[in-house]
Amino acid sequence: MSAEAAAALIKPGMTVAMSGFTGAGYPKAVPQALAVQMETAHAAGDSFKIKVLTGASTAPELDGVLAKVGGMELRLPYMSDPALRKRINDGDLDYMDIHLSHVAQHTWFGFYGGINIAIVEVVGIREDGSLIPSSSVGNNKTWLDMADAVILEVNKQQSELMEGMHDVYYGTALPPHRKPVQLTAPEDRIGQPYLDVDVDKVIAVVETDAPDRLSAFAAPDEASNQIAQHLLDFLDGEIKTGRLTDKLLPLQSGVGNIANAVLAGLSRGGYRGLKAYTEVIQDGMLELIKDGTIEFASATSFSLSEAGIEEFNRNVDFYRSRILLRTQEISNHPELIRRLGCIALNGMIEADIYGNVNSTHVVGSHVMNGIGGSGDFARNGYLGAFMSPSTAKGGKISGIVPMASHVDHTEHDTMLIITEQGLADMRGLAPKQRARLVTEKCAHPDYKPMLEDYFERASRESYGKHTPHLMGEALSWHQRYIETGDMRL
Ligand code: COA
Repeated sequence: MSAEAAAALIKPGMTVAMSGFTGAGYPKAVPQALAVQMETAHAAGDSFKIKVLTGASTAPELDGVLAKVGGMELRLPYMSDPALRKRINDGDLDYMDIHLSHVAQHTWFGFYGGINIAIVEVVGIREDGSLIPSSSVGNNKTWLDMADAVILEVNKQQSELMEGMHDVYYGTALPPHRKPVQLTAPEDRIGQPYLDVDVDKVIAVVETDAPDRLSAFAAPDEASNQIAQHLLDFLDGEIKTGRLTDKLLPLQSGVGNIANAVLAGLSRGGYRGLKAYTEVIQDGMLELIKDGTIEFASATSFSLSEAGIEEFNRNVDFYRSRILLRTQEISNHPELIRRLGCIALNGMIEADIYGNVNSTHVVGSHVMNGIGGSGDFARNGYLGAFMSPSTAKGGKISGIVPMASHVDHTEHDTMLIITEQGLADMRGLAPKQRARLVTEKCAHPDYKPMLEDYFERASRESYGKHTPHLMGEALSWHQRYIETGDMRL
């Protein structure tokens, strides 16, 4: 049926679970038609809002249009659309930022109530009714299983050659009946290539013909090249001490420009035959697969720029045997990340001197994107690195602060902090040792003396001497930024 007719099946107040993960495999027609119907309702003085669950971030055709018409009362989990970000920070809707591995199981546990309708993009519907997944798998299995009704968008533009590149695991159960997940290498297949759906629940099939829409990544700048170099030097050191071999351990690389650039920088390291057990395949990862640095990558989604999509489609035969997409509950599964010993490489907003990391909030209150899978990987991996330039906004903000204004990853979980200035290896260090090291290695020269001064005074005057802080001053840098537009004195 038409997207308009399908959208008309969605009623105000419904919980609608949609496909989509980091700008890939999201429904492209029904949300846009729904936004028009919401706008008409709002113009007539009627409220029309829904609760939206996804895999992760989507695109302007989903998050963007629904945010613009004020059509969401709740959104979870990860998002990155500018219009939606603005709505959330204006306080217009509730946003729940949840570890991406948690979303499916929290849905089964009933924490979010029921799901009225699932809208899922697929590449095709097979004769037996099973579905060929699209450029992301995300939470689609859970959405199809749990929703009362299903709308399918069949997108002609997604390459049919993706058929067979998916591994959908159907072995999950609720506690206390859970069994170990039998995956011991990134390339292991433990499921089936197709999604199952109860055909009696399918209330609409809509045909679409539109590409995933992703903006290009920023070209690697000097800072990200330096961050990549610090990481390469560190990994070389680990190989020399014998803690790692030259095959490393499965890599996880986060979203964003920095992680993408750092990944691209890894091709300079001379590694061959590495593996990735990660969440998204970004352009940088595709390049590493192409040049042989990575021989196999497991993820839940693509997150490619237009150029990346073209490269993938041109050489899909090559990539088919080297990439596998899984449900996000498996790509981000703590049991598997710990078993495989992933090396987790993620971007951050800021870190404090003790190693607490803020990945999500500018000045403690303005959400940027969300935690995504960074917690799943950093908490459970063999190594967890957080990376950022040492300053933001032309030097007015320090990426290293006395106290993080929001904490996503605690000092107990973080191991490496990397800026263009250097790398702080906090493994095996107590709080005061970490504070000295993070300041020395990672802070920008403009802020280093300020941090040293803070730590010195805190070490003398603090209420306790284990993790010295001056409580009246710890967040004063952020307050100064709010008041003067600059963290510097
Ligand atoms: N204060 C204010 N703004 C900051 C900042 C800080 N301390 N650090 C970064 N920013 C801003 C940048 O100025 C930039 O803003 P702009 O878009 O207006 O130019 C934006 O954040 C992105 O920063 P950039 O340096 O380009 O890095 P990035 O694209 O790598 O993104 C994160 C960094 C932290 C936003 C991103 O990695 C993220 O969302 N992480 C959380 C999710 C995650 O880690 N997922 C991984 C599992 S897949």
